[in-house]
Amino acid sequence: MIDTHCHLLDGIDDGPQEREETLEMCRIAREDGIRGIVATPHSLDGRFTNGPERIRDLVAGLNAELTAMGMDLTVFPGMEARITADLLQSLDTGRLLPLNGGRYVLMEFHPFHIPAGFHNLVRRFLDAGFGIILTHPEKNFAVQSDPAYVFRLVTCFEPWDLLVQITADSLTGQNGFRAARTAKTLLRCGLVHLMATDAHSPTTRPPRLANAVTRAARLVGEDRARLLVRDIPDAVLTNKPFPPEWEPKEPKRWWKIF
Ligand SMILES: [Fe+2]
Repeated sequence: MIDTHCHLLDGIDDGPQEREETLEMCRIAREDGIRGIVATPHSLDGRFTNGPERIRDLVAGLNAELTAMGMDLTVFPGMEARITADLLQSLDTGRLLPLNGGRYVLMEFHPFHIPAGFHNLVRRFLDAGFGIILTHPEKNFAVQSDPAYVFRLVTCFEPWDLLVQITADSLTGQNGFRAARTAKTLLRCGLVHLMATDAHSPTTRPPRLANAVTRAARLVGEDRARLLVRDIPDAVLTNKPFPPEWEPKEPKRWWKIF
């Protein structure tokens, strides 16, 4: 499996602060069956500013250390960008680091609302040659109230231009009932393309995917569940072709309360 969202690098965001914590996260991930991790420190969110060069250097150092330890795990560079008014400026000034330097930029919403004009922002990124991975929309309060927003968003663009990534512990219930219900709804409707850990530490949010893959397999079958953690991450990181058939459905409106 490949984890496409993990705060793995020590001392640069709210993830691990010590090297030993980072290495323990690597051990946990490896035992869970993860063979690749994209290190995605917070960046450009007003709190943490981690530039592409620094992240690449830190990832290279960590990979060298893992190799020296004999650990069969590869770390790829990336970042998690908060959607703010400055994001387009960051695009223009080369401060964004897509996952593994490829096409896809990992973006998160503010937890409470969907940013106005997000469609237009996505269009600007697409025009500049990027694709978007929208991470953990199931944790956003506005999406929890209207999961069909994700359908309307995804179907605005060509297939595989905008990918949706849920967090493994949303599916296993650690992020609360509403996040779990929204994650399941999106998954059943073919509106989830990736599942990742968004791990921050070896203890409170460890990098494990296997339990969530089992849950996902119960909902959408083993083949589809594997695509979320193996084939699609591989395509994102190495520009391989995506699965040929992927038809999203509009979530039913059972969640409406008025
Ligand atoms: Fe994150």
